[in-house]
This record gives sequence, C-alpha cells and structure tokens, in this order.
Amino acid sequence: MRQENGWFMRIPGQMRILSRRKDARAKHASDHDPVEAESPAPEPAVEPSSGTPAARVTEPVATPETGAPAVASKPAPPAPVESSAPALVESSAPAPVEPAAPVEDELAKVEEEAAAEETEIRLKAADLLGPDRRDFSSPAKAEVEAPTDLAEVISFANQKGGVAKTTSTLNLAVALSELGHRVLCIDLDPQGNLTMSQGIDPDKVDRSMYHVLVEDLPISEIIAHREIDIAVASLDLAGAEIAMSTKIGRERSLEKALREVHSEYDYICIDTPPSLGLLTINALTASSKVIIPVQCEYLSMRGLVQLQNTLKMIQENLNPDVRIEGILPTMFDSRTLHAREAVSILEENFGDLVFKSRIRKAVKFAEAPVRGASVLKYDPESRAASYYRDLAEEVLSDGSS
Ligand SMILES: Nc1ncnc2c1ncn2[C@@H]1O[C@H](COP(=O)(O)OP(=O)(O)OP(=O)(O)O)[C@@H](O)[C@H]1O
Ligand SMILES: [Mg+2]
Repeated sequence: MRQENGWFMRIPGQMRILSRRKDARAKHASDHDPVEAESPAPEPAVEPSSGTPAARVTEPVATPETGAPAVASKPAPPAPVESSAPALVESSAPAPVEPAAPVEDELAKVEEEAAAEETEIRLKAADLLGPDRRDFSSPAKAEVEAPTDLAEVISFANQKGGVAKTTSTLNLAVALSELGHRVLCIDLDPQGNLTMSQGIDPDKVDRSMYHVLVEDLPISEIIAHREIDIAVASLDLAGAEIAMSTKIGRERSLEKALREVHSEYDYICIDTPPSLGLLTINALTASSKVIIPVQCEYLSMRGLVQLQNTLKMIQENLNPDVRIEGILPTMFDSRTLHAREAVSILEENFGDLVFKSRIRKAVKFAEAPVRGASVLKYDPESRAASYYRDLAEEVLSDGSS
C-alpha cells in the first residue's frame, strides 16, 4: 500500500510538469505567432518574481482607458493553471506590457521547481518504503529472541517390531511427569498402540496426527489429556506417508507442528512405527535425542547398524543436532545366558551409549495397556514401575551433566 501511495504521489507531480510545459509552450507560441503579432494582442504578463507557478494566475482585468479586460498578473489562491489559458487567447484589448522573461528562463524555472517537488515526493516515497527495507536488511533483529525453555524432544525408535518402543515411550513419559516435568507423548505409529495404552480407541478418533502432518492441523487440537497429554494416532495415519510424499518439506512436518507446543512442555516423547519410513524420519528430524529400545536377543541387535545409518543420514541432511541418548535393553531376563550375552555384546559395541538401567521382563507391562494405563499407574509400587523410574533418573542425570 505504501508503495502504491508513492506511485500515486508521483503521477500528479509528473502531470503538473506536463501541464506547465504545455502552458509555457502555448505562451511561447502566442508570443511568436505571426498572425497575433500583427494585431496588438494581450501580452501575458510574466513576473520574474518568486512564487510557484501554481500560485500565480493570469486573469483579465479592466484597463482604465478601454474598460476592456487585459491580462495582468497577481497573486491568487491556487487554481488550475489551465484556467488562465482561455483568457490569454480570448483577450484582444491592448494592455500595458510588462517586460516578459525569456521563455527558456520560465521553462527552466518551472522545471527546476517541478524537479524540487519531485525530489521532495521521492523522498517521501522512500521514507515510506524505508521501514520495509530496513526490516528486510536486518532480519537478525527479528530473530534475536533466544529460544528459552523449549521442550526436549525424544524419539523412541527401532525399525524392529515388538522391542518395547511404545511401552518405553509411555512409562518413561509418566516417570518424568511424576518428577514434576510437563510431558507430551506423540503417537506416530499407525497401529495406535500408545493411543490405546491411554484408553483411547484409534478407530474412533476423528482427527489425529494424520491431520497434523498432512493437513497442517494445529497439534494442540488433537492432544488428549489423560494420565499424560497425548497427541493421538488413528488408523488413517497409515496413509500419511503416501499423502505426505508430494509435500514440500515433508520431512519437517512434525518439527513444524511441534513449534506450537514447544514452550508448553519440558519433554516431548515420540513413539515411532517399526520402520524407517517418512514417519520415523519426521520424528528423528524433530528430535534432539533418540532412545533405542533393544530387546535382549541377538536378532534384535542386528538392525542397529541400519538404524545408525539412517540417523547419520538425518544428521547430515536434516537435523545435525540429533544424537543417541542411549540404547535401552528391554525385556531383560537375567536368568537366561542368552539375555546376558546379548547385553554384553551391546556394551562391547556401543560402550557408554548403553543405559545402565535394565528393563526386565514383567507381565505387568502386558497387563497395564489393557487397563489403559502406564505401569506406574497400574501398579505404582511394582518393580516394573521402578525400572522406568530408574531410567527417568538416568535420562535426567545425563541431561544435567
Ligand atoms: N519389559 C517387558 N516385559 C514383558 N513384556 C513387555 C515388556 N515390555 C514390553 N512388553 C510387551 O511386549 C509387547 C511389545 O511391546 P511394545 O508394543 O512396547 O513394542 P513396540 O516396539 O512398540 O512394538 P511395535 O514395533 O509393534 O510398535 C507388548 O505386548 C508389551 O506389553
Ligand atoms: Mg509400538
């Protein structure tokens, strides 16, 4: 709009120049018109005095001798310059002639004044445009606000199925919440197991993470408040990867959606599906940390290299800040040699990346989801609950070190 105003202001200025040039040319023509020169014609009085041309106007006045109108010059209120033109032509009575300034001088003066006016107008236009340009040239000022108190985003990922991703997401989230932290869980798995674990039927969910990722629905609109806050999944999340595939910035859809709630939570825990597809890539791109639950079995560890490669690709292309918070041995049964060996292989290969906490096998983990609750709520005093409380302490101690 400002720019438009600028243009509006300039156009009348240019029109005035043209109209003044036309007047000057008309006067010049009448001065030098051979026909008019033979018969005494009224001389247009041109004052070499100051004052803008627009403020001066020539109009007929009666001469003492003839009473006929003559052309004289006098200050007048601003009026269209064109109004003087007919008087110049129509008036035929002789009039006292004042020495006329050369036409070139008058033209030069008119143009000079017009140029000054133009300069003034351009300055005003520039002033109007200025703030926009300044804003543009110093975007740093707009971004000065340092991010404060933003949630730590933790993904639980492993393309192997049934390794306790969902169980770990929910129970660690509840353990952190017990310690006074504000926690949001996100169900990014079309199976909807996390959603079910909070007593919500994914089949009956109208709007879910599908709508957040595919249709840019604000994530706050699909957060259910249960034992913990949860952004729910529905079965149609299964179609999200295909629906998102043509979207620009498809890997960052979740990261973008989380900005809305980043400052409302201390931790955001994301449960991912057992694959390394676009949903998991979205989770890793939005996260600062990844927890990798690994069932304490040899076969469960084979996929870790593939997961590491995916993580490396994410670090190189999408999120350089994401790192492995830890590898979590789950369903650990210390009575079996196989489980103990599996853990020692993990520690040999990944060293300190392996959590000290062990999530042991316990039937409570299978029972709690049926009640739509975490193990910490289902049986708060159980040993099963204490495994995730220990893990929460370990995660927090790592974060503060
Ligand atoms: N520590 C445990 N002891 C015994 N059973 C467990 C334990 N942790 C999880 N389970 C059970 O193992 C099954 C798989 O767990 P969970 O659903 O958490 O795995 P997941 O990795 O999320 O699976 P998916 O890849 O299919 O999403 C569930 O029935 C769960 O109750
Ligand atoms: Mg799961």
